[in-house]
Amino acid sequence: MPVTELEAAPDPASLDLTDPQTFLDVDQHAMWRRFRTESPVHWHPAGPASPGFWVISRYADAVAVYRDNKRFTSEKGTVLTTLLQGEDSAAGKMLAVTDGVRHREIRNLMLKSFSPRVLAPVVDGVHRHTRELLGAAVASDRTDFVADVVDHIPMHTMGDLLDIPAADRPRLVEWNTRTLSRHSSEESEFESLLARNEILLYISELAAERRAKPGDDVLSTLATATIDGRPLSDDEIVLNSYSLILGGDESTRMSITGGLIALADNVDQWRRLKSGEVTSESATEEILRWTTPAMHFGRRALVDVELGDRIIRAGDVVTLWNASANFDEDVFTDPHTFDVGRTPNKHVVFGHGPHFCLGAFLGRVHVTAMVEALRAMVAEVTLLGPPQRLYSNFIQGYSGLPVALRAEPAVEEVR
Ligand code: HEM
Repeated sequence: MPVTELEAAPDPASLDLTDPQTFLDVDQHAMWRRFRTESPVHWHPAGPASPGFWVISRYADAVAVYRDNKRFTSEKGTVLTTLLQGEDSAAGKMLAVTDGVRHREIRNLMLKSFSPRVLAPVVDGVHRHTRELLGAAVASDRTDFVADVVDHIPMHTMGDLLDIPAADRPRLVEWNTRTLSRHSSEESEFESLLARNEILLYISELAAERRAKPGDDVLSTLATATIDGRPLSDDEIVLNSYSLILGGDESTRMSITGGLIALADNVDQWRRLKSGEVTSESATEEILRWTTPAMHFGRRALVDVELGDRIIRAGDVVTLWNASANFDEDVFTDPHTFDVGRTPNKHVVFGHGPHFCLGAFLGRVHVTAMVEALRAMVAEVTLLGPPQRLYSNFIQGYSGLPVALRAEPAVEEVR
């Protein structure tokens, strides 16, 4: 990135990272480069009703904090909004906001349902379902890639894993989007809260049914599991199922959609993929890095910690910006180039350390399924209008993407 562009980026001291609008207004690549260069461990001032917090933008610092669950806790929340409120009502019960022994116990229990071996039969289903949806999209002249294709994929998988009735899945997708992000600035935080409550209520009814009549789905596993002979509490069952629905859906959708945009914008990379010069796995990793759907996660310091040349005080909120770390020039060569053959590519899209994403394998499976389906079935991608961006300081991505997908002749003949 030329120096002039760096200078044109807003001064870190002038930015309000609590405001979703900031992420729509700025050139994020330039903004984060300036943070990394000038203020890598940056103190973000307090707002009228919220405390100040640390903004960590370099890869090495983010990894150091992710790794260190002794001095940084997840139990006060892991997303800026909840961290600034000072507490997370799911603390100590839901995996992502639980530390210590209970975290390990619940994580080990849930990992059994998410290992590559156990998920092997699910993988075929993801590929099949992706091809079916893409097949319908190439058959029409214009499609909304988000609404017509992507919105139906991860929830379909999570729905099958948790045995959620098919008719209820679209509602869950909509609630998820409202919980984690918003379609526009008009929607209020109150609506996000309502959506979260709708999901929780929905799952608790389902969990009660499964406890009475268990099946072989993940919700039944949680509802009937025991740790040291004791069943999980109702809250643990509901909140951890909720975290699968929430964690498994929106981020995955955002990576798949952002991946298509990146391939359409970088025709040379699209050709490398089509020609077989690069593997679908390598393209998947670059799409994940390039899109980094979860822009940040966070922690609260338990003791004073020296980071860079700053002292983080016990009790301070610390935010780790994956959206910056994944473009850190100390780790990635030409980080602002989309390179489907990039290697190595040790991004932190799924975090790092003890809370490393439980669904990383499944997230990758979804992106790879789309990459392979696009390679086999689509000859050309044309964006038909500007993508509609989400309004959020946590999840970045798109809620609408009008495109035309021209079918490969071979696919055309089959139809
Ligand atoms: C944790 C990102 C897909 C479930 C995380 C973390 C990140 C992340 C960054 C670490 C949070 C932290 O350190 O505080 C993503 C992205 C995905 C994705 C970008 C898709 C591209 C999934 C899927 C599932 C899932 C498919 C469900 C099967 C979880 C859970 C945790 C987690 C339960 C908490 C793990 C723990 O605290 O031990 N995810 N995730 N995620 N993710 Fe994902």
